Amino acid sequence: MIITSKKRNLFINYFFNVDLQFFSLITFATQKNEMKIAVVGATGLVGTKMLQVLAERNFEVTELIPVASEKSVGKLINFKGKDYKVHSMQQAIDAKPHIALFSAGGSTSLEFAEKFAAVGTTVIDNSSAWRMDPTKKLVVPEVNANVLTKADKVIANPNCSTIQMVVALMPLHKKYKIKRVVVSTYQSVTGTGVKAVNQLMNEREKGTSEEMAYKYKIDMNAIPQIDVFLDNGYTKEEMKMVNETKKIMGDNSIQLTATTVRIPVMGGHSESVNLEFESEFDIQEVKDLLANSPGIILQDEPANQIYPMPMWAHDKDEVFVGRIRRDESQPKTLNMWIVSDNLRKGAATNAVQIAEYLIVNNLIN
Ligand SMILES: NC(=O)c1ccc[n+]([C@@H]2O[C@H](COP(=O)([O-])OP(=O)(O)OC[C@H]3O[C@@H](n4cnc5c(N)ncnc54)[C@H](OP(=O)(O)O)[C@@H]3O)[C@@H](O)[C@H]2O)c1
Repeated sequence: MIITSKKRNLFINYFFNVDLQFFSLITFATQKNEMKIAVVGATGLVGTKMLQVLAERNFEVTELIPVASEKSVGKLINFKGKDYKVHSMQQAIDAKPHIALFSAGGSTSLEFAEKFAAVGTTVIDNSSAWRMDPTKKLVVPEVNANVLTKADKVIANPNCSTIQMVVALMPLHKKYKIKRVVVSTYQSVTGTGVKAVNQLMNEREKGTSEEMAYKYKIDMNAIPQIDVFLDNGYTKEEMKMVNETKKIMGDNSIQLTATTVRIPVMGGHSESVNLEFESEFDIQEVKDLLANSPGIILQDEPANQIYPMPMWAHDKDEVFVGRIRRDESQPKTLNMWIVSDNLRKGAATNAVQIAEYLIVNNLIN
């Protein structure tokens, strides 16, 4: 794959300074002629969104290889007006795609990611299987794309609630150095997959659901458990936020504690975040910094009742930040509210952005 240094400079310039639409156009302009893309989990919520994001961003796919479980092999998936047959894992490996976007659960990733890597494919994996593996990179392009090299054949996409948080945290960490984060999440049922959406809709329509993704009713409820409980009393989701944040931001000194809650919402995840800094800050400067950082939209007009909500974040690629105010209970501390579509920036968009970065920087085979 050949791109000129001029184009590359243009890309870097655009990536760090302008919005995502321009980013996709530049990427489109720099892609090579052949690009075989496998989407593993193509019939699922994240896989479907990946196909939508690839199409919207004009990601140049010369051959699409949709993959799902054996029960779906042969089914048709539509991409940009054309039908494609769902492949089995082995058929996809045999096709030697350049990039495989995985969203088919952790056990599938553990079993198959390295097999794709062995035939030269770069895997970008949405599950938690490889995230904390010290040999694998955990990437949010706005924060740490610079860690990627051509040798990275299995790249991990972070947890959805962590992605949206670190996009907002990193510019502030660079300026004021974060000491401690206290985060509480209000997470969409779409984070659990198709079954959870069905449960919520059944309960909303009929009051009850035969298909249960959660132990309890989710409609008209809030469940303070996401993923399983660990020995320390936290859930796995909460500890993912703690550990993944440190890895992505490359700073183990950041202290973080999380409470993650599932609520009957579909548009995206919301987070109440309390941040304590080493340095003093100015609230207007914080707002300006966030407003001018890549991938962030500032929605902070209390006088007009403008603040981020899943209803507005739904189907958008950006991270929305608002309710920015000083924590009056202690110095050098602020509160803010972060919302993003977990299926987009929290999963599909982030994965596609990693793929775009790899292509433009000539980091795939
Ligand atoms: N939802 C989110 O917000 C989110 C965010 C970040 C990461 N993730 C991660 O992304 C993954 C998928 O999530 P989802 O919400 O899209 O789930 P989902 O809607 O349940 O979809 C699962 C997909 O995986 C496929 N699959 C299952 N077992 C397979 C196997 N053995 N071989 C090949 N394909 C297989 C399914 O195919 P069939 O249709 O044939 O069963 C389906 O396409 C999970 O690891 C999840 O943790 C989700």
